[in-house]
Amino acid sequence: MEQVELATYLAQLGNRVDTRTGAINLPLYFSTTYQHPGLGESTGYDYTRTKNPTRAVLEEALAVMEEGTCGFATSSGMSAIQIALQIFPQGSAILAGRDLYGGSYRYFADLEKRGFYQFTYAYQEADFLAALNSPAKYTAVYLETPTNPMMQEFDIEKIARAAHQKGAVVIVDNTFFTPYLQRPLTLGADIVVHSATKYLAGHNDILAGALVTDRADLAEKIAYQLNTTGAVLAPFDSWLLIRSLKTFLLRMRQHEANAQKINAYLRSEPRVQEVFYPGHGGMLTFKVAEEVRIAEFLRQLKLISFAESLGSVETLITYPETQTHADIPEKLRRSYGLTPDVLRLSVGLEAADDLIKDLKHAFLAE
Ligand SMILES: Cc1ncc(COP(=O)(O)O)c(C=O)c1O
Repeated sequence: MEQVELATYLAQLGNRVDTRTGAINLPLYFSTTYQHPGLGESTGYDYTRTKNPTRAVLEEALAVMEEGTCGFATSSGMSAIQIALQIFPQGSAILAGRDLYGGSYRYFADLEKRGFYQFTYAYQEADFLAALNSPAKYTAVYLETPTNPMMQEFDIEKIARAAHQKGAVVIVDNTFFTPYLQRPLTLGADIVVHSATKYLAGHNDILAGALVTDRADLAEKIAYQLNTTGAVLAPFDSWLLIRSLKTFLLRMRQHEANAQKINAYLRSEPRVQEVFYPGHGGMLTFKVAEEVRIAEFLRQLKLISFAESLGSVETLITYPETQTHADIPEKLRRSYGLTPDVLRLSVGLEAADDLIKDLKHAFLAE
């Protein structure tokens, strides 16, 4: 990035790219193919699966935001995770967090069942460190911090140090905290993945993923896998995501301010048993008191929508038990505290007082 602050860079993302017309807004290049000036010559663009001028601006922004050297925009968060794992040879041992997005768990379980990799799961930071200090070999370590949905935080620096002593590559899913709060590469992680569908896109209108690394060897492998398999983000979605990033910092500030108010309210609400909020960010999880009937509570909400997903302008409430985490076997879910009284709230940009009123009303009417 040029010597400007991130707010300046993002507000003007894509400006001054089209020097021919001086367009302020980045042109949207739909062209899938690019004319070569001559044999053995290229404008830098040949075919959109490999590189696209609109996506390239987005990919540079992703790298800047995460303080990496190479960014990649993919068709979904799951395809970003798939590409991150695909760079390892068959038979690799992967150490992963136990509390994960249900779709990530489902993918890992499928990979293991079909004999691609062996997974070992860690509940706590101490489990990660014990595994990494044991004689077992690991090719990669995969974690979410904070975890989805129980909001447990891990010390990336500590885990990365132990992982690197074993030669393992550290992958962090940074969907929840985003680079607004945490830049895992600066803490020793090697690859950051995102469901860009969430805070990066922020409007519940783009399915997208991101990968960022600061290691040239890994960037080369990721680029090879992406170009080979083709799970790249389409030009229009790339353009929309660029538009979203212009307000990213503003949105994150307001998500966080609202979530802090709602955290304070939920902690004072007698019908809430426990609140899991790391003190920053826009996501919080809570356990309702025994007498609260979840179905009725959800029905009574008028402003907050009962829906999967997170990170967008509108507040969503999710019931992980039957939605995002239903694919994790019940016994496993219970083993790390994901019980049927857990609700996950993605706090949006509405007035916090309106959201609190909505929650209060639903608790009382219940
Ligand atoms: C933490 C986390 N990682 C990855 C994903 C998958 O992303 P996508 O839905 O964009 O494929 C999700 C989706 O909810 C998620 O919450």
